[in-house]
Amino acid sequence: MHLHLRDGEMLKLAAPHSAADFAGAVVMPNLVPPVNSAETMAAYRSRIADAAGTFAKDFSPLMTVFLQKQSYEELENLKTAPGFFAMKLYPAGATTNSDGGVRDFGEAEETLRAMEELGIPLLVHGESNGFVMDRETEFLPVYRNLAIRFPKLKICMEHISTAAALPLLGEFENLFATVTLHHLLYTLDDLAGGLLNPHFFCKPIVKRPEDRAALREAVFGGNAKIMFGSDSAPHPVSKKECAGAFGGIYSAPVLLPALAELFEKNNALGMLNDFLGGNARRIYDLPKATKKIVLEKKTQRVPEIYCGADTETRVVPMLAGKEIAWSVSER
Ligand code: NCD
Ligand code: ZN
Repeated sequence: MHLHLRDGEMLKLAAPHSAADFAGAVVMPNLVPPVNSAETMAAYRSRIADAAGTFAKDFSPLMTVFLQKQSYEELENLKTAPGFFAMKLYPAGATTNSDGGVRDFGEAEETLRAMEELGIPLLVHGESNGFVMDRETEFLPVYRNLAIRFPKLKICMEHISTAAALPLLGEFENLFATVTLHHLLYTLDDLAGGLLNPHFFCKPIVKRPEDRAALREAVFGGNAKIMFGSDSAPHPVSKKECAGAFGGIYSAPVLLPALAELFEKNNALGMLNDFLGGNARRIYDLPKATKKIVLEKKTQRVPEIYCGADTETRVVPMLAGKEIAWSVSER
């Protein structure tokens, strides 16, 4: 329910990884320039289909549009556009390519009202400008405020990372959340406990053990308001292994096997299907997926790097060089 596929050569590298294992994905619009209209969305959707190749026929990209100050008419038009799913709100400057985002929520008021009326979900990147460890906690009043002011709007907190975010789900009927694999697996010690490892750097940053424990408890306990959103976000190795590294973890190639391993270790395999898709289908009234993937308990080793068609398109995946106890055996 939260995926970055990028564009150009990176899209060609990344799209087949997601399209092979998943029936669909909510595709983020933070390209340069952003996907911010019905036209740019339709064009991006067709580039995704091209890049997914033979997997495209069993993969639905659920398209999002970058929330700016779209009018009622623009939203009405988007609503009927093939593949359109939701609007994505980025506070300006919060993360990769978010500069054109909203600077003050007042300026988005009319657009949000129109979305509420038209039944268009709002996906929110839940951090304020910039990054320090507890910015998500600072952002929680914004969610609360949005949930109260727009009671009919379905609002999703995109990839929550703290224990503090969880009570909001119980408090507001119209608030939902996505959780990534990396926030279920890692803490700040993985990122910077020893040598700084930029491959664990993502936004929101991985947090403390108690935050991870709370997210695990909610997910393995089957909280029906929480959906899997990988936030798989590839960056070329040259933009990760450098000063001023970009945030983003490329998890797409390992997601299903690594999730199966984690859920099995926590006696929660029975919850995996709902986390992966069932909860989202109920929350957003999405059609049932017919695609079937078989996972088997068979060890595999993750490649150290994936290389695209040009020298710049080289990406280190999550769990690079590590073993995973599960594999996809049938697609
Ligand atoms: C994402 C990206 O690189 O596009 N990065 C990240 O660390 N998650 C943007 C985002 O979702 O914040
Ligand atoms: Zn993201």
